[in-house]
Amino acid sequence: MLLENKVALITGSGRGIGRAMAKLFAKEGAAVFLTARTEKQLEAVAGEIAAEGGKAGFATADLTQVTDCSRVFRAAEEQFGRVDILVNNAGHYGPVVPVEDYPLEEFEKVINVHLRAAFVLSKLALPGMYARASGVILNVSSLSAKAAFSWGSAYAAAKAGLLGLTRYMAAEAARNGVRVNAICPGPVTETVMSKELGNTLANKLNVSPEDQLKGFLASILQGRGQTAMEIAQAALFLCSDMSSAMVGQSINVDGGAAFF
Ligand SMILES: NC(=O)c1ccc[n+]([C@@H]2O[C@H](COP(=O)([O-])OP(=O)(O)OC[C@H]3O[C@@H](n4cnc5c(N)ncnc54)[C@H](OP(=O)(O)O)[C@@H]3O)[C@@H](O)[C@H]2O)c1
Repeated sequence: MLLENKVALITGSGRGIGRAMAKLFAKEGAAVFLTARTEKQLEAVAGEIAAEGGKAGFATADLTQVTDCSRVFRAAEEQFGRVDILVNNAGHYGPVVPVEDYPLEEFEKVINVHLRAAFVLSKLALPGMYARASGVILNVSSLSAKAAFSWGSAYAAAKAGLLGLTRYMAAEAARNGVRVNAICPGPVTETVMSKELGNTLANKLNVSPEDQLKGFLASILQGRGQTAMEIAQAALFLCSDMSSAMVGQSINVDGGAAFF
């Protein structure tokens, strides 16, 4: 098993990509601590992990709030003793509108959940990781950090910000035994975020959701989206010793959509 005796705190793990990562990490031996706002979803994922013989705990948190970031980190430490792996995955897309129409309070929410929460949770996780000279932080960025789409400026800014944060944290942490990397998924079409975004875009473009998706997927080398499990598998690689020499990278898991 690749993550035996490790403790992983995975944000946004009630559904979608976070859920897939939590289940896979647990299968690989990690004790996983789950967090999101919806208790029912966390309870369900923790139940599925326990039923498969894994270890899971959870606490609800709204990660746009700094106090919730601290509370959930302490809860993970309290339950499992430490955090060896932090995956900053939680977030929402935000309004699908051009910059001139983007409400400032919505901009702040998107930045806070994707970027500030990752910063705050990393601040909390790094001292323990440094003390043990061991640890991994994985930031879930996006193809949006490397592309030029319309109507999601805060999301793209937050995801691009995560890549800068990844590189700077990687530089500070590398010689303290801690690796920091990022992953950039393409369209993971099965998730709530992806479906909602697809429907909104289709509506705005006056096409069917099927045609909107077909057009987007046609621009990707593989001609298809990715599954949550495909993202989770790449995350497992980056969070395990399999990637022991990888530091400060942003890995595209996008079927061939971005090339830097
Ligand atoms: N799907 C894609 O195509 C795609 C592509 C590239 C990158 N990503 C990134 O992958 C990550 C996971 O997305 P997904 O597609 O799996 O979406 P999803 O199914 O909507 O899951 C998002 C998760 O984040 C949680 N979350 C959202 N806002 C939160 C908040 N304020 N506080 C705490 N938790 C919050 C959600 O739970 P609650 O709503 O219960 O809080 C949920 O568990 C995101 O960072 C996303 O940007 C997704």
